[in-house]
Amino acid sequence: MVEQAGSKNLDNLPVAIEQRIGELVARMTLAEKIGQMSQLSGSGGAELKRAVAEGRVGSILNDVNTENINELQRIAREESRLGIPLLVGRDVIHGFRTIFPIPLGQAASWNPAVVREGARIAALEAASTGVNWTFAPMIDVTRDPRWGRIAESLGEDPWLASVLGAAMVQGFQGDDLAGKGTIAACAKHFAGYGATEGGRDYNTANIPENELRNVYLPPFQAAADAGVATFMASFSDLNGVPASGNEFLMKQILRQEWGYKGFVVSDWESIRQLSVHGFTANDKEAAYEAANAGVDMEMVSTTYADHLPALVAEGRIDEREIDRMVTSILRIKARLGLFDNSHTEPTDFPALVNQQHREAARQAARQSVVMLQNRNRVLPLNSGKLNTLALIGPLADDPYEQLGTWIFDGQAEDSVTLLQALRDAVGNKVKVNFARGLVNTRSKSRAEFAEAIALAEAADAVVLALGEEAILSGEAHSRADIRLPGYQQQLIEALAATGKPLILVVMAGRPLTLTDIVDKVDAILYSWHPGTMGGPAIADILLGKHSPSGKLPVTFPNTVGQIPIYYSHKNTGKPPSDDTIAHIDDIDAKAPQTSLGMTSFYLDAGYKPLFPFGFGLSYTEFAYSDIRISSERPHVGSDIQVSALLTNTGKMEAEEIVQLYLRDLVGNVTRPVRELKGFQRVRLQPGEARRVGFTLTSEELAFYNRKMQKVVEPGQFHVWIGGSSEAELATQFELLGETVLLP
Ligand code: GLC
Repeated sequence: MVEQAGSKNLDNLPVAIEQRIGELVARMTLAEKIGQMSQLSGSGGAELKRAVAEGRVGSILNDVNTENINELQRIAREESRLGIPLLVGRDVIHGFRTIFPIPLGQAASWNPAVVREGARIAALEAASTGVNWTFAPMIDVTRDPRWGRIAESLGEDPWLASVLGAAMVQGFQGDDLAGKGTIAACAKHFAGYGATEGGRDYNTANIPENELRNVYLPPFQAAADAGVATFMASFSDLNGVPASGNEFLMKQILRQEWGYKGFVVSDWESIRQLSVHGFTANDKEAAYEAANAGVDMEMVSTTYADHLPALVAEGRIDEREIDRMVTSILRIKARLGLFDNSHTEPTDFPALVNQQHREAARQAARQSVVMLQNRNRVLPLNSGKLNTLALIGPLADDPYEQLGTWIFDGQAEDSVTLLQALRDAVGNKVKVNFARGLVNTRSKSRAEFAEAIALAEAADAVVLALGEEAILSGEAHSRADIRLPGYQQQLIEALAATGKPLILVVMAGRPLTLTDIVDKVDAILYSWHPGTMGGPAIADILLGKHSPSGKLPVTFPNTVGQIPIYYSHKNTGKPPSDDTIAHIDDIDAKAPQTSLGMTSFYLDAGYKPLFPFGFGLSYTEFAYSDIRISSERPHVGSDIQVSALLTNTGKMEAEEIVQLYLRDLVGNVTRPVRELKGFQRVRLQPGEARRVGFTLTSEELAFYNRKMQKVVEPGQFHVWIGGSSEAELATQFELLGETVLLP
């Protein structure tokens, strides 16, 4: 990976500070050391204050009252024996008060700069209250849209999640953790949480080590390379060993192989849950397994406080191991500058949800919108030709729901809804009539259909704002059927019957299976949960002020039965093709058993997605041509340049996300049919052409082989450059030489 700005955040501290930390640890009692390893939730209650004064707490979470935080920091500094300041944690997942699109939506922007800026603003706003640590980025790769936490993720692809996850780390942490408005980030949930069986949250994850290393670990290594201050252990049982007690993850991978110098916090009570998993018999054994594995801080449960003293006294945990864990925590506090100042003056910071922050959130939301369909070019709407617009749907004017999941500090009152934004944008030129059509997305009542239909019949065009409420995705909120909930499909069908141009705007926390409605609407804009400025961002696109530019960070299935379905799949020994498969409706009864095509497909759902990874339409057209490669027979270890000519062949200035995919045809382990290995966002005027180039280094060609060695192997490679994972413009090369091992 390219050297990341901010990656020096974990470089060696100045010797003087290291010495100060060493002297401090030497003065600490075992109880005080274990206090630093304990994080408690809650605000400024008397018990918490007493615990801080007695040195039994190293961190608090979920208090954003600056007066409380300042008082607890004062107690820590002035009343505890050693005066060690507190880490103050909060889930600042996609904004603090100014809410950006959910991370899955931000991933659809494919724009590291936008993601970084969103994290920077989130950190600035959070820091203004006294928060100095966020539990983000969430970089769990997932290929299962049933999983509610896909909303918090950066999608299905390791490369995209690596680049954007590192950008979030840089945004939160800046180049100096002690800088004003920077906060410590946290790479979570380490690791493999996104492979939760059945897409049901908190479920088992069984991932062969080779797959873990090639798919699920790379974004975490990228975050470590970007200098992320902390990691969070996952709730999940990974291959029979829950992550919060998993020495392979926390010691072999994180510390020994990656040389990671930050610290690891458990997830909420995930250490105590080791006994619920059946991995340990009781809290004392849970504390032993977690401490032995290398989980440095316990979030909320108190097995460390309750049992580490005995475990040390019995010699089962060496106090030198405790010293290492405490030192890693104190180093982060030192890097944050907390020993020098742990008091917060909100007036030292810009106002929350100010105009600049709103504008950044609007840009992020705009670049996150993916246009999936635009039949008859119904979009963009021409406000000059429209007299009346019908805006229909329960999400068209709901300032809370557009914010999405994990909104602890976002306020609905700050939101600008689609209704408000459209009316603001068109003024008295176009009459915008609104009806909910349904009281909410889960409603199964047609009671409000008539009003909606009447508005549609009186309008020149209809915009529908449908999808999922925020509560239908996020933690613990998985769905087994990912169609539009309630009677939304029935509402679409009723409005389609009016024959008016129908534009569907979807606000959701996951891909939905839209198969049954794509033929009933003319256009589809997928806006995810777009955040505080979602309304103006969507209006900017509906009215043609900006062309949509988002691309899917996750595959959209035709049906939930296809899951897991993702672009970088393996070829199998019997790959399907359109001419090798039959459809269940076309099968003759008693057809001979081998007559339907003996390949890997579904009789009732084929093998292709509804919309592929990397897909997204524009108001203009882009053409790809003239792909070139620096050498068709490069040697192992040499860099390879690949480029193509991109032309805006349409009539509107727009941005295209140019993507490069690679296939290693033969490997020591089977390799995916395509892997994203580069992308660039390019803005072109109508008629303008530009050559877009990428460099493939050994890093892009490398993978983990059967022996878990990171290798580059000689052989045949195919390369594509295009506007989605189905790019057709291709070239190839033969890599010469011998297999090499990479560090
Ligand atoms: C939750 C989540 C984790 C979050 C933590 C603190 O259960 O799993 O992502 O950061 O608890 O709220």
